Amino acid sequence: MDNQATYNYKVVRQFALMSVVWGIVGMLIGVIIASQLVWPELNFGPWFHFGRLRALHTSAVIFAFGGCGLIATSYYVVQRTCNVRLISDKLAAFTFWGYQAVIIACVITYPLGITFNKEYAEMEWPIKLLLAVVWVAYAIVFFGTLAKRKVKHIYVANWFYGAFILAVTLLHVVNSAFIPVSMWKSYSAYAGAVDAMVQWWYGHNAVGFFLTAGFLGMMYYFVPKQAGRPIYSYRLSVVHFWALSFTYMWAGPHHLHYTALPDWTQSLGMVFSLILLAPSWGGMINGIMTLSGAWHKLRTDPVLKFLITALSFYGMSTFEGPMMAIKSVNALSHYTDWTVGHVHSGALGWVAMITIGSMYYLIPRLFNREAMHSIKLIEVHFWIATLGILLYISSMWIAGVTQGLMWRAVNPDGTLTYAFIDAVKATHPYYFVRALGGLCFLSGMVLMLYNVLRTVTEGKAVDAEIPAVAAHA
Ligand code: HEM
Ligand code: HEM
Repeated sequence: MDNQATYNYKVVRQFALMSVVWGIVGMLIGVIIASQLVWPELNFGPWFHFGRLRALHTSAVIFAFGGCGLIATSYYVVQRTCNVRLISDKLAAFTFWGYQAVIIACVITYPLGITFNKEYAEMEWPIKLLLAVVWVAYAIVFFGTLAKRKVKHIYVANWFYGAFILAVTLLHVVNSAFIPVSMWKSYSAYAGAVDAMVQWWYGHNAVGFFLTAGFLGMMYYFVPKQAGRPIYSYRLSVVHFWALSFTYMWAGPHHLHYTALPDWTQSLGMVFSLILLAPSWGGMINGIMTLSGAWHKLRTDPVLKFLITALSFYGMSTFEGPMMAIKSVNALSHYTDWTVGHVHSGALGWVAMITIGSMYYLIPRLFNREAMHSIKLIEVHFWIATLGILLYISSMWIAGVTQGLMWRAVNPDGTLTYAFIDAVKATHPYYFVRALGGLCFLSGMVLMLYNVLRTVTEGKAVDAEIPAVAAHA
């Protein structure tokens, strides 16, 4: 029988801790593949090859690290803002074990070369089906808890989490449509340009709803909490929500400029990407301005530093993205490392920083502690992570623009100025700098793991009591 007097923190603890663990695994694989691009000798045999490990990296950081962070915080936030316990402890436990089973199945199958060949959706059909079941269970727990809330108003963070859960269900089901040919092999149900279009409708909305909307849910809860201030403009947060949800859905074709996709769809994708700048920046400004009157806290509070720096990178990558979506700019950036730089300014700067900041807020509270074991270590983590991101993205920008310019350079007689290998050679030093940046970021995560383990062992796992009077959580 579920205990109705307390919140269910057990499942939050489980997901939060696994987020840190998977973060280290995913980023370690990131450092490995970054090193493989510097020293090709590190590509040992087929299992340990860049081509196979790359998909493992992207899935581990996005779905295992990011996903566990999102589920942990959504379970925490929905309970605290609704003043009720999750509707079912058993179903919540199922989402935890089911989700870990999906991740482990990917960790085993990807290096074996068993994949569906769609980026960010590489899992083969039996794993896809398991994920669909787990995700529906997650939706039932989240929305069921919202439905029996004791607070009339649905706080905006829950809207973002809700959109993330619904959109990911839709994306996963549509993009995964498959025709199985054996137990571990299936093909996409779509063909040719339609397949590409569906894939990038999925891919871009994975950015929009997984890597953005879900983490905005985190932002709208943890930034005001840590700053000790109400959100700057609640009205703006609601406008932000609807504008973002509507606009993201149409921007996918910017991944397919100059391809066999009809030209008008490419232009449509470009225009919607430019429009996206407005809601993205509205949200970024709303988050940062929440600090009005509390700016001084940034000097002494490293958790707030993580959260606010995350918002700055969110602003930066959502400025860069619309620029790259302009067809003439994309003609230079596409296929180059500029894209990889853009990805990681969003992924490390926004997604990882907001998750790390939220975990530093959350973990002591889940273990009945005032704060993390060492604030000093959080400060060191912050600086080493920021340095890592700067090394990563600046090296990729330079490498990307260099590649783009070298590939398109032509001599007066129309022949290419450079052979492909010239661009590879020119890029090599920057790959080294990127690997170094990744190593810095990973080292910060290892410090975090130590700090988390000390906090857990010094604290006690308890479930907080639900206040009798509905207060703002
Ligand atoms: C230690 C930190 C990290 C390192 C060293 C790292 C390294 C790499 C490398 C070397 C690639 C392959 C680039 C290529 O194909 O040329 C890559 C791709 C990618 N990584 Fe990371 N990564 C890190 C963290 C993250 C995080 C935290 C996320 C997401 C939350 C992320 C998301 C991605 C994505 C989406 C791609 C595919 C990019 C594309 O297709 O353009 N990475 N990463
Ligand atoms: C207004 C918001 C954004 C827009 C309009 C946008 C636009 C773009 C464009 C034009 C590309 C390059 C496509 C290509 O040439 O192949 C791209 C790639 C990418 N962006 Fe963004 N971006 C935005 C925000 C973000 C954020 C916040 C993140 C991460 C948290 C992100 C993650 C990615 C990823 C993972 C890719 C690489 C996809 C791939 O090729 O595998 N984007 N984006």
